[in-house]
Amino acid sequence: MKPKVYVNRLIPEEALRKLAQSCDYRIWEGELVVPRDVLLKEIPQIDALLSLVSDKIDAPIMDAAPKLRVISNMAVGFDNIDVREATKRKIMVCNTPGVLTETTADFAFALLLAAARRVVEGERNVREGKWKTWGPMILLGHDIHHATLGIIGLGRIGAEMAKRAKGFDMRIIYSDSVRRPALEKSLGVEFRELKTLLAESDFVTIHTPLVPETHHLIGEERFKIMKKTAILVNTARGPIVDPKALYNALHTHQIAYAALDVTEPEPIPLNDPLLTLDNILIVPHIASASIATRTKMATIAVDNLLAGLKGERPPHIVNPEVLAG
Ligand code: DGY
Repeated sequence: MKPKVYVNRLIPEEALRKLAQSCDYRIWEGELVVPRDVLLKEIPQIDALLSLVSDKIDAPIMDAAPKLRVISNMAVGFDNIDVREATKRKIMVCNTPGVLTETTADFAFALLLAAARRVVEGERNVREGKWKTWGPMILLGHDIHHATLGIIGLGRIGAEMAKRAKGFDMRIIYSDSVRRPALEKSLGVEFRELKTLLAESDFVTIHTPLVPETHHLIGEERFKIMKKTAILVNTARGPIVDPKALYNALHTHQIAYAALDVTEPEPIPLNDPLLTLDNILIVPHIASASIATRTKMATIAVDNLLAGLKGERPPHIVNPEVLAG
């Protein structure tokens, strides 16, 4: 009998074909997140689950899944999964690092450019018939070249961001939980404590995972340190920035602008005060959304899942300790 798999949303065809070769799978074909009651009904039968960042996979879900051996998340981040609970139950948790690094950095840089040069406001003005003439004072933004970029988290995506920034002649500083001397040398970036980074940066871009230590890392006190002209870019996870503090910082012009691919919560409710502000740009968690990258992410998620089901070490397992013994 083939192992049984549940797939939490439609994913690229190529990955589904690969899955079908050795598994019986069922899939949630709805456009939105698989409802919890549906997942709870499906999960007792399955050996592996292909999940997404929008699916909360917690202890009650795992309790309902006595046969579950692999949770394969189609994302590099896995804060949607209670990994500790999975590990207790010897369930492998997998992710898809690497393939989305450059695509995500491209997009973070696109947000930085759009925010600095007021691209979205400009486009909106044209459609609203506000383009009456060329004006010396119209839609003035901030220069990117020769400005200081502060990267919070010089991991894979942060390092790619630094490469892009070099092409724009930016001065680059970073903060991280560890110093990265090899990257400091190869990328020409300088380490700063977070406080100093926030004080010096014209642009601050977040590339750290969401863990208890980074929850609301950027809050009221840290906004106070930032330049009034600073632009904040977040393509990592919404809860790294305290949304109330962000609202106050933008509303009182403590910082100039924010460009977010991620929010807390997701999706951001239409009545969220952040959406009343003009100095913010929010897009719906699409930094990795290129056709090629999403196809690779789905394929890697399937490869991880199949390896785990075969009793092999998945190429990207986040809790390898479950394999011991
Ligand atoms: C991830 O992979 O963690 C992103 O947030 C979704 O691409």
